[in-house]
Amino acid sequence: MLAKRRILFVFTGGVAVVRAMEVARTWRKEGAELQAIFTAAATRFVQPLAFEALAEGKAHTDLWRAEDPFPHIRLARWAEAIVVAPATADFLAKLALGIADDLAAATILAARVPIVLAPAMNAAMWENPATQDNLARLRARGCFVALPSKGLLACGEEGPGHLADEGALRIALLRALSGEPLAGKRVVITGGRTEEPMDAVRVITNRASGRMGAALAEAAAGMGAEVVFLQGAGAPSPAGARVIATPTAEAMRQAALQEASGADVFVAAAAVADHRPVVAHAGKPPKRGAHVLALVPTPDVLAAVAQMPKRPRFVLGFALESEAHLARAREKMKRKGCDAMIANPPENLGAEEAAGWWVEEDAVRELPRMPKRRFAWEVMQEVASRVR
Ligand code: CTP
Repeated sequence: MLAKRRILFVFTGGVAVVRAMEVARTWRKEGAELQAIFTAAATRFVQPLAFEALAEGKAHTDLWRAEDPFPHIRLARWAEAIVVAPATADFLAKLALGIADDLAAATILAARVPIVLAPAMNAAMWENPATQDNLARLRARGCFVALPSKGLLACGEEGPGHLADEGALRIALLRALSGEPLAGKRVVITGGRTEEPMDAVRVITNRASGRMGAALAEAAAGMGAEVVFLQGAGAPSPAGARVIATPTAEAMRQAALQEASGADVFVAAAAVADHRPVVAHAGKPPKRGAHVLALVPTPDVLAAVAQMPKRPRFVLGFALESEAHLARAREKMKRKGCDAMIANPPENLGAEEAAGWWVEEDAVRELPRMPKRRFAWEVMQEVASRVR
């Protein structure tokens, strides 16, 4: 999603510019094309050359250059989105008033593309009504905001003022770039593996990493949805989602039924263990010799949601099949009562990349091997087009 996107960073004068530079480097590694503008204050913390070395893009500082009288117009037209990180209180005030007395402010005033603001400052400066009023005005004009987080600030005081982390910045940028096709929609996603207890320490589980579920949650949030992620064991916590830990099939089923009521979309990407031990012993019984473990099937979370009375409008499942992918996925789709299935081979489990097919009653689309984040974005775009 960020590959080949033209992102213009605006660095303003706060110590968080160091962290913002790391974010730029991460996005560059994903293939984003970057340029940056440093305000005069930003150059007191970091030299523009550091950006050129880390992010392989040009850094600009000056509005007044003999060789190019319109650098602000050129940069504003080059960018697909502008990310101001960190955005100081002073710079927000300038933008709110439409002041254009340096390259950064002039470029933003001249821009016709979405602007992402990531404020970072002392907590009192952040809470000051002047800053809040300025931010409210900028929001009302369509700016996207990655809110600062709380913590011990560089100045030694505590409170909100930390630059949003990379995940939160990414979600704000994706919302800005995507046009938010899932705005106003509630999306519930399961991800990761379940662990069915044999006793207090031993579990029955599988090899799923939860990367796909987390990537789907991130994609849905980046498309503007309100996202609930039902997090199986091992799954990362996706940015932009409300996360509920659901380590067993039964915990996942209960949370899914509750959260899916009133939701628009349900996506079951979790690798739910097929069986659980009949008895989960308390404590840790000592190991015995060979013995038979009695198992019962776990509840089917996807089928439970797809068959609930007021089910979400669109229900998507994943069918892990080692052969006859499409036919089996269609059969599973009908049996469970969902609207579409991703048929995927077991090689996807725990891997960095995924390949598969989007399968519906009367349509199939092949999704060639690609990084899971990209795969998840393609899948959520299909979903978004079904619930518009
Ligand atoms: N699923 C679920 N609850 C279960 C089992 C599966 O919600 N107890 C969901 C998975 O999240 C996935 C879909 O059902 O979206 C299909 O999972 P899969 O493992 O392919 O199928 P199973 O139902 O387990 O059938 P089988 O193992 O026989 O292929």
